[in-house]
Amino acid sequence: MALERTLSIIKPDAVAKNVIGEIYARFEKAGLKVVAAKQKQLSRQEAEGFYAVHKERPFFKALVEFMISGPVMIQVLEGDNAVLKHRELMGATNPKEAAPGTIRADFADSIDANAVHGSDAAETAKVEIAYFFAETEVHSR
Ligand code: TYD
Repeated sequence: MALERTLSIIKPDAVAKNVIGEIYARFEKAGLKVVAAKQKQLSRQEAEGFYAVHKERPFFKALVEFMISGPVMIQVLEGDNAVLKHRELMGATNPKEAAPGTIRADFADSIDANAVHGSDAAETAKVEIAYFFAETEVHSR
């Protein structure tokens, strides 16, 4: 299996619900290691840049407003097939469609306040990790 890294963000709604620890426990139980982490209040510019791929979508403005509505918890997860494993833990984008027991099924209220972000591919993960962390801040183990 491929040892991978992925970028995970616990979004403002889930930080406000005080479930950072519960979400971290799910990562750890699935064999994903938190190899870098920081809590951050994103600026509008940072949120727009992070989601630049969606800038023409109708939900872009609301997504940026939501992402800057409070602090987020940003981490790099490492493990076998980390990208896919993390996406499985997250569940579908729309919590109404997310499988029972997934993070979004348990903690998300709506498609626009959906608790977590996870990179969708190994290549995207590299770009997203570099967006928030210097290589010296990531502690592979
Ligand atoms: P997307 O990359 O499609 O989903 P995911 O986060 O599961 O990779 O969309 C990015 C975020 O944009 C999504 O988490 C929430 C927001 N979004 C909406 O608010 N409305 C929508 O219809 C979609 C598709 C996404």
